[in-house]
Amino acid sequence: MKRAPHTLCPRSPHLGTVARCAGVGAILPAAPPSTRPRLRPTGVRSGLLFDRRDWYRGAAAACLALLVAGGTARADEPTPLRIGFLGSYSGGAAAFGQETDTAIKIWMQQHGDTVAGRKIVLLRRDTQGQANIVRQEAAELVSRDKVELIAGIALTPEALAAATVSTPAHMPVLIVNAATKSILDHAPYLARFGFTTGQEVAPFGTWAVEHGFKTVYAIYTDYGPGLEAGRVFKKTFTEAGGKIVGEVKPPFTTPDYSPYLQRAKDAHPQAIFIFAPAAGHPVAFLKAYSDAGLNAQNMPVLATGDLADENEFDQLGDAALGMITVFDYSEAHDSPFNHEFVKAFYSAAPPGMRPEFTAVAAYDVMHAIYNVVAAQGGKLDPDKTMALLKGMHFESPRGPIAIDQNRDIVQNIYIRKVEKIGGKLQNVEFDTIPTVNDLGEPVK
Ligand code: PHB
Repeated sequence: MKRAPHTLCPRSPHLGTVARCAGVGAILPAAPPSTRPRLRPTGVRSGLLFDRRDWYRGAAAACLALLVAGGTARADEPTPLRIGFLGSYSGGAAAFGQETDTAIKIWMQQHGDTVAGRKIVLLRRDTQGQANIVRQEAAELVSRDKVELIAGIALTPEALAAATVSTPAHMPVLIVNAATKSILDHAPYLARFGFTTGQEVAPFGTWAVEHGFKTVYAIYTDYGPGLEAGRVFKKTFTEAGGKIVGEVKPPFTTPDYSPYLQRAKDAHPQAIFIFAPAAGHPVAFLKAYSDAGLNAQNMPVLATGDLADENEFDQLGDAALGMITVFDYSEAHDSPFNHEFVKAFYSAAPPGMRPEFTAVAAYDVMHAIYNVVAAQGGKLDPDKTMALLKGMHFESPRGPIAIDQNRDIVQNIYIRKVEKIGGKLQNVEFDTIPTVNDLGEPVK
């Protein structure tokens, strides 16, 4: 189907456009595609998702506003800078979408919506956590919506799908979360702002042995970041003298963890090592763990921080107490910048939502976007954008971060313990492995 251009009225300040908007057959922005079933969000206005009717109303209002302002509109005014945001707003990883939106909102409240004279317009698209939807939405953002940058992503398969569009289109994609190291290998326009599981568990394997854990039963989800977590943890843990007494790979679709925990118990390890993605797994794991009569004394848990996601804490309850995790961000991270971030987050977030790792990564992605736009005076070139990202470094709520020459994140990794502070479960950091790359190696 041939689509009408998705431009003109709301975007162009030209008087000619205004005149066309005002006419009977006004050229409105193309309607969102109707040829395939899609979830309600099709765009963004004032930071809010809107549906098709809202969208028409918005377009009409924009035309009217331009008519009124027509006398002052200037042909040389810079056009808004359109950025696609691929968020997981529904489906199993829906919490990520809400958290990242809150972080973006606070970034823009703090730093405004205009950089180098260009108004930043985010076009949010709901990926539902599905790779096939990412591919389609990313392609449309590039070819129809003419975005100049893409950001977002919550899961490894989504990042791989985004790469299939980003590479041929030379479209920079700033990844919020997707933790499998190899994602960036053949995708020169991708940069990662979250973490890799290898980055966390490589030092964690060594740390575990040095802190008295000699035998471990390993549980890791059977897909990219889980397989990487299992492989890397086993390597550094055994190299340091530890022994893996058994292992199992539960599926990505949230399983009942009871049978896996029974096998772990039967193997009599000193502790369980587990990687499972934040979305849904922590509650399922902790329920089975506590139903099996396990706790931090009789079967300590060594996990990546996904399992102690602050947003799932309230459902986890005291079963989580004492869990030792390794991660790049904790709400309880003790720095003035993080205290400020946490305060701003709570004042902008819907009731009950807590700041966690995807929110911080989204906040940092916005920081990087503002940096690259400012450095190019508002005129984005994909290759310059990627060159600027390489070597970029700044203070994040999680501590200092940098993007290296491989476009991957370099950051501190923290060892934390779940404790109750003021009646609230928190990941209390008590050890830091400073400045590690995507392989978990120290960077000088
Ligand atoms: C991923 O798919 O890469 C992923 C998802 C959720 C996590 C960590 C990694 O908590």
